[in-house]
Amino acid sequence: MALPTVLLAALALTAQAHTFLTPRQASTITVDLTKTYQTMDGFGMSETFQRANQMHALSPELQRYALDLLFNRTSGAGFSILRNGIGSSPDSSSDHMVSIQPKSPGGPSAAPKYVWDGNDNSQVWVSTEAVKTYGVKTVYANAWSAPGYMKTNNNDANGGSLCGVSGATCSSGDWKQAYANYLVQYITYYKELGVDVTHLGFLNEPDLTTSYASMRSSGQQAADFIKVLRPTLDKANYTDVKVTCCDAEGWSSQQGMMSGLSSVNDLLGTITGQYDSSYTSAPGSPINTKHPVWQTENADLQGAWAAIFYSNNGAGEGLNWALKIYDAITKANVSAYLYWVGVQGGATNSKLVRISDDKKQVIPSKRLWAFANWSRHVRPGAVRLGASGGPSGARVSAFKNVDGSVSVQIIQSGTGVGSVSVKVQGFVAKSAKAWLTDNSHDCDEQAATVGSDGSVSANVPARSMVTVVLQNADS
Ligand SMILES: *[C@@H]1O[C@H](CO)[C@@H](O)[C@H](O)[C@H]1NC(C)=O
Ligand SMILES: *[C@@H]1O[C@H](CO)[C@@H](O)[C@H](O)[C@H]1NC(C)=O
Ligand SMILES: *[C@@H]1O[C@H](CO)[C@@H](O)[C@H](O)[C@H]1NC(C)=O
Ligand SMILES: *[C@@H]1O[C@H](CO)[C@@H](O)[C@H](O)[C@H]1NC(C)=O
Repeated sequence: MALPTVLLAALALTAQAHTFLTPRQASTITVDLTKTYQTMDGFGMSETFQRANQMHALSPELQRYALDLLFNRTSGAGFSILRNGIGSSPDSSSDHMVSIQPKSPGGPSAAPKYVWDGNDNSQVWVSTEAVKTYGVKTVYANAWSAPGYMKTNNNDANGGSLCGVSGATCSSGDWKQAYANYLVQYITYYKELGVDVTHLGFLNEPDLTTSYASMRSSGQQAADFIKVLRPTLDKANYTDVKVTCCDAEGWSSQQGMMSGLSSVNDLLGTITGQYDSSYTSAPGSPINTKHPVWQTENADLQGAWAAIFYSNNGAGEGLNWALKIYDAITKANVSAYLYWVGVQGGATNSKLVRISDDKKQVIPSKRLWAFANWSRHVRPGAVRLGASGGPSGARVSAFKNVDGSVSVQIIQSGTGVGSVSVKVQGFVAKSAKAWLTDNSHDCDEQAATVGSDGSVSANVPARSMVTVVLQNADS
């Protein structure tokens, strides 16, 4: 609304006359503890396809720095989920993930001939560090395909289906039970090294045929296998291991597989969810299921390496990723959000942290810090709360953590600048902290002031993400 010039002048005069300076109005964010949505499992990434080998080849100092950037809750992103790749390839050439049974044992009911090198392309090293040094509790082991000899196309790459699921018959027989045994054996190798796999996936992008490990599956075919896998896990006492399905490429594609899975919904009593990647369709609405839903893979795959938080809204910029995570959490109600790769070399944005070409530097992008803002303060078990208000143009979300703290995220993608006052109904903050990420800050601590009524004020700059954490206990 444009005020008439005369009136504006009058207002200016009045202001002058009273030496009255309008303070920049603080906007109020209201958090409602009684409105609860999904429970969070966390945030994460992957070092599959031999990316873990690249990390492991760094100097000890850079190894530690890279691990800290991923998993440390005070100096890094504090990731709470690691996604590992279960190999299906006959060898380790190129970036293949080698199988624990590279050669067919002779048939589906022959005694297995497993081979385990205790290294798994350095994924054992990353997993052990994540779990033992940094306390990561969620390890997602995910196969891209069954080994080739278990499939209709006799190749772990180029699509094909698991022999024995509906519509996939093979002269070698039905390999469903052998594949289930194989996946359980993989978990057991990790267990023997002190790493508990908590989530198990047997498909990746089953809607796509690629020149690397890939296996096609419909929802119905996935259900055929889950009917074998779940009891096989239970018999081996892995009753707590959650079966995931299906990591489809695109949110709508995953939604499309759900009806085929309806026959195993009871078996899905211990299944945490449907997993997905949003390369083709972003998580814009909830998937129809009673299980938690994870976004397991996304990245700016081809964009030239960008480490900045905001410049021109490029696909690799940190602010963009803060918003993508926000959308998946608040529109699709996801319980977890995983980037594709954590640390690796090369000139694209397919990873969060780049190993320099001379391998003498490890360089975090602002995408990592966008994740850090979420991951450090929205811990596994946190419940999303209703949140409204906030500065014009800003996105606001809120969570109650298991430790009782309330964590509020404010993403200002526009140019609005101002202070916010966070009020949590029925919650009197005794202390609070705020962290800022923008072009010049990496989750740096900012002032947060507790008011006499228990609300908390903090500043939100333009093009930034600010997290405010409120504690109501003396800490
Ligand atoms: C995380 O980083 C902090 C700060 O650099 C350091 O003091 C701490 O030891 C690290 N934590 C772990 C588990 O390495
Ligand atoms: C599973 O646990 C039961 C009870 O503790 C035990 O008797 C059985 O041997 C275990 N089975 C396996 C395969 O470890
Ligand atoms: C997802 O969260 C929204 C609030 O953002 C809520 O209104 C909706 O009911 C939730 N949907 C499901 C399926 O949980
Ligand atoms: C996000 O991370 C950056 C970089 O560490 C930091 O400066 C910023 O304060 C963080 N924001 C939140 C909301 O934690």
